[in-house]
Amino acid sequence: MRILFIGDIVGSVGRNAMKTYLPKLKTKLNPHFIIANGENSAAGRGITANIAKELFELGVHGLTMGNHTWDQKEIFDFIDDEERMVRPANFPKGTPGRGYTTIKVKDQELLIINLQGRTFLPPLDCPFEKADAILEAQKKKHKYILVDFHAEATSEKLAMGWHLDGKVSAVVGTHTHVQTHDERVLPLGTAYVTDVGMVGPRDGILGMERTAVMQKFRTQLPVRFVVDEGKWHFHAVCIDLDPATGLGKKVQLIRMDEDQLLFE
Ligand SMILES: [Fe+2]
Ligand SMILES: [Fe+2]
Repeated sequence: MRILFIGDIVGSVGRNAMKTYLPKLKTKLNPHFIIANGENSAAGRGITANIAKELFELGVHGLTMGNHTWDQKEIFDFIDDEERMVRPANFPKGTPGRGYTTIKVKDQELLIINLQGRTFLPPLDCPFEKADAILEAQKKKHKYILVDFHAEATSEKLAMGWHLDGKVSAVVGTHTHVQTHDERVLPLGTAYVTDVGMVGPRDGILGMERTAVMQKFRTQLPVRFVVDEGKWHFHAVCIDLDPATGLGKKVQLIRMDEDQLLFE
């Protein structure tokens, strides 16, 4: 069983990279499930129904979100009906959408769970307790479980990895847009990486045009951020799971850019 998980897709540069290179990656890696984080796919802020449709048509089976879930107002028109999309499960009770869902591809099922960290991010419900509650209700029904922990602090993400070790197939981090080089299978069998990275402009800062971000850091004045243009990079992780146990066998980081492709 192989899962390809793609880091935060940022704006049209990220979407174009997906259009051009996801088919080639699929041919090279042949994953059973393709899951992507879509929270920045609409000009860096949120997602629209058309963009979600476009990503599903490209072969993405499930979308995870994060702190940018609500940035496009039209999300409220479709999130309740879109069963292939999850937003953080530890948002307050009554929040639209769902925090976990089952993705079915051919004869296999994958439970995907989205959680958001609380360090340097808004104070949500406890993501650890929420993970436990979801697993209590769902674990027996699912062999393959993937958690996208959308969080800022590397330490909080490591804490989630260790908390869920042996209880889920994989814990992947998103949100920082910077890929970490700590991919591994934890001792009790959970595949883990602190942050998968992003798909989008390579020479911006987290995908945004960099001079505005630099100005913001220097002046502390309000600055309008826009998605950068130019060359892209494509960060993902390829996770191999043992069909007997549902646990991790191998984790391989994918890191490509326009000048360095994986498949040529
Ligand atoms: Fe993001
Ligand atoms: Fe985020």
